[in-house]
Amino acid sequence: MKRLTGFQPTGNLHLGNLLGAMRPLVEAQETAESIAMIADLHAMTMEHDPPALRRSTLGVATMLLAAGVDPARTAIIANSQVPEHAELHYLLECVTAYGEAARMIQFKEKSAAGGPVRLSLLTYPVLMASDILVHDVNQVPVGEDQSQHLELARTLATRFNARYGETFTVPEGVRPESAARIMDLAEPTAKMSKSSVSAAGRIGLLDPPEVIRKTISRAVTDTLGVVRHDRVNQPGVTNLLEILTACTGSPAGAYSSYGALKRDVTEAVDALLAPVRKRHAELSDDPGYVREILAEGKTRVRPAALATVRRARAAIGLLD
Ligand code: TRP
Repeated sequence: MKRLTGFQPTGNLHLGNLLGAMRPLVEAQETAESIAMIADLHAMTMEHDPPALRRSTLGVATMLLAAGVDPARTAIIANSQVPEHAELHYLLECVTAYGEAARMIQFKEKSAAGGPVRLSLLTYPVLMASDILVHDVNQVPVGEDQSQHLELARTLATRFNARYGETFTVPEGVRPESAARIMDLAEPTAKMSKSSVSAAGRIGLLDPPEVIRKTISRAVTDTLGVVRHDRVNQPGVTNLLEILTACTGSPAGAYSSYGALKRDVTEAVDALLAPVRKRHAELSDDPGYVREILAEGKTRVRPAALATVRRARAAIGLLD
């Protein structure tokens, strides 16, 4: 069993990223061979700042290590550093229809946002398919927003295999048991996101304790005055209960006031994030180490990636 989890390079990693993707990856280390991939190539599909991109890529790698990803078991890579991703991307473009790419919801949304549309934004899901197929992975943990892209990866793999001969493993999308869906604290019907309108909605993984306390104390609740798990009528309270459960790993007890619930949530989030902050600070003193981990990850995954590309080249009719 082989898994690949993808991360966008972003400077604003938050509690939702940790509980929804990073921690499940850490837990899966016990049972699956995993690759943690930072999609720095994908970050260039929209207007971007080169120094900021470099910083974010290293920042996510640092955070993965701080969150407990063990580089001895999980290869941490950036997709730009393993050239087979880009090479296979082109081969897969040759089995993708223009209309298929143009129909993707994310493309339609992002291209409608105004400003020039990079061609790479259109081919973004083809590159994502390449990220997955090049490593022969069976499982890809994805959230709802990426399920259409994963479906395209499966379609391209199946199509290529049917047309040119068995080449790729057809991957499966999975939703890990332990993945928690953390909502925005200011707007609890939306997912906690790096692009939330206000910082009041998210807890940054490096937020100091006093900021965490303030953010949680201001979290939106309601006027019902009872603590119940009810996503429809009490989304804010329910989100707090779910954060508590996800942080402590055990079901939340009964609460008679929002204040008491918020105090326990604050304590639980703090207990979860304090060691991550500490480890992150240690790693930040040694950026050379993080670069080395990425180089090691690349060395580790490359032989299999090369073998896949070789297979695909031969199947599609290229010289070796
Ligand atoms: N598109 C994914 C996202 O926005 C990131 C990503 C890129 C990815 N390549 C991937 C995720 C491969 C899983 C597998 O989150």
